[in-house]
Amino acid sequence: MKRNILLNPGPATTTDSVKQALMVPDICPREQEFGDLTQSVLKKVVQVVNGNLTHSAVIFAGSGTAGVEAALSSVVAQDGKILILDNGAYGKRAETIIQAYGIPHRTYRIGWGEYPDVAEIESIFQQDRELTHFAFVHHETTTGMLNPLPELLELCQKYEVDSIVDAMSSYAGLPIDLQELPIDYLISSSNKCIQGMAGTSFVIANNEKLAKIAKFPARNLYLNLWGNHSYIEKTGQFQFTPPVQIVYALNAALDEFFVETQAGRTARYFKAYETLLDGIDKVGLELLLPKSQHSKLLTAIVEPQSPNYDFMEMHDYFYENDITIYPGKGAKQDTFRIANIGAIDYRDMLLFNEKLLQYFEDRKISNS
Ligand SMILES: Cc1ncc(COP(=O)(O)O)c(C=O)c1O
Repeated sequence: MKRNILLNPGPATTTDSVKQALMVPDICPREQEFGDLTQSVLKKVVQVVNGNLTHSAVIFAGSGTAGVEAALSSVVAQDGKILILDNGAYGKRAETIIQAYGIPHRTYRIGWGEYPDVAEIESIFQQDRELTHFAFVHHETTTGMLNPLPELLELCQKYEVDSIVDAMSSYAGLPIDLQELPIDYLISSSNKCIQGMAGTSFVIANNEKLAKIAKFPARNLYLNLWGNHSYIEKTGQFQFTPPVQIVYALNAALDEFFVETQAGRTARYFKAYETLLDGIDKVGLELLLPKSQHSKLLTAIVEPQSPNYDFMEMHDYFYENDITIYPGKGAKQDTFRIANIGAIDYRDMLLFNEKLLQYFEDRKISNS
């Protein structure tokens, strides 16, 4: 099969074996065989973050936002209140979801590309004793910023609020150990660093916290966390029709993850990132963020000021060469973004660098 190199932040490039896992005999998802597969997949999803002793996964048909909406809409009690960190499009989206459900909240809003000030956030918890939850993004894909997960979790513990962590684009890319990091609800999807296909999202929830939400009046049905969890616990099946083939592909992707190991995957991604930075340096482009804030999974690159530069034209040039690059998304400076997740490695990045240099030379684009 033709191989495209996806440097967008997911859906990411997949291996041929994951693509082939989509081709399975037709099966009714109410059969025991599919139920067994579902339960095994859920265990593996939790195992990726070493959570099997303490956490369970609840899976939804839908893109990543489905999992985020499921968690946000289901875990805050009627008299609860949630703090949201907005330093990118996905923090902002969490706020939009919370507002749509009319859930009491406040937002710590800073520029998209600004690093959260933990002391400022702490002062919000000190002032506002009604807060019961804190939702934030681990890797803010808008800018490639890695928010300070351990420090933010410490605040959650200190002020006894539950943590809801959107780890969409970091899960399986960066090591997360739930026995060390006390995350109450962690959300991701099948199509980013776990390298499966788009179509499912999951919430990895702490079992004790999950049991507490059982009695909350439901704000919704399809995306209700407890409803879906209790159905799967009782029957071993998805509550609603699952994307059958996507679940088979996710199973294959999880198996490939365990063969590669978390350490192996992170090292492969980081090598591709280092290679990318060499190429960016060679053409003289600037990075949006200081390196200390980089996730090393996605890099936001400041667009050159040259009149010869046009993102869409550059995109089309790469696309013709089977490489997909990604535009910016409202960061404090105009950027384009290059992700180094998925079934790619540093050699793909060397190819990208070569084409980038060629492109800049051909069009005489300089950054001054
Ligand atoms: C951090 C983060 N949260 C949420 C989402 C939303 O996921 P989806 O576009 O699959 O709904 C994304 C997508 O890129 C993301 O990067």
